[in-house]
Amino acid sequence: MKLFLDSANLEEIREVAGWGVLDGVTTNPSLCSKESVSFEENIRKICALTPGPVSAECVSLRADEIVLEARSLARIAANIAVKIPVGLEGLKATKALHAEGIAVNMTLIFSTGQALLAAKAGARFVSPFIGRLDDIAEDGMALIEEIVQVFENYRFETEVIVASVRHPRHVIDAALLGADIATVPYGVMTKLVRHPLTDIGVERFLADWRKVKT
Ligand code: E4P
Repeated sequence: MKLFLDSANLEEIREVAGWGVLDGVTTNPSLCSKESVSFEENIRKICALTPGPVSAECVSLRADEIVLEARSLARIAANIAVKIPVGLEGLKATKALHAEGIAVNMTLIFSTGQALLAAKAGARFVSPFIGRLDDIAEDGMALIEEIVQVFENYRFETEVIVASVRHPRHVIDAALLGADIATVPYGVMTKLVRHPLTDIGVERFLADWRKVKT
């Protein structure tokens, strides 16, 4: 399973890259709005921190405008994946961009039907937002199960990015279902590393080590 960091913050990305577990990065307009550097400069720097795909989101709404914006984003670095919200205009743009070899991450996926259409249009990734479904008392992980099954049934090459991850259990359940990727916020990534019994174990070993004759 690949792990992406869901962040536009250079320090967080550098830190997780240093752990040796970073396979890519996803950003969105809300995450980018928290950073003080210019959008393009920030995305360029993020792309230099990981060889993996870095998602940068298009904000245009018409297919022809989305295509132009996506081409300009794709010029920033070779590892850009352009993020496009699912919809009729987004699908048209995805078909055109796929033909040009530009990787599309179709985002804001909330149904299996949307994921199926995105895959058929040529999206390299789909991003179902499970946390936002859980927030409204729906079952985000059930959506992942369906999409993974449909993509397996028809051997789509489109990869499933489990997005809107809220806690470590989301990552584990996504891995158990065979999702290709989870994009994880920094706070959840640190929770995945830690366990209180590990901390207690280290403390006890260090205390005992002090009694060992050397
Ligand atoms: C994924 O690509 C999105 O950036 C992200 O996971 C959205 O998560 P949120 O629902 O916490 O905003």
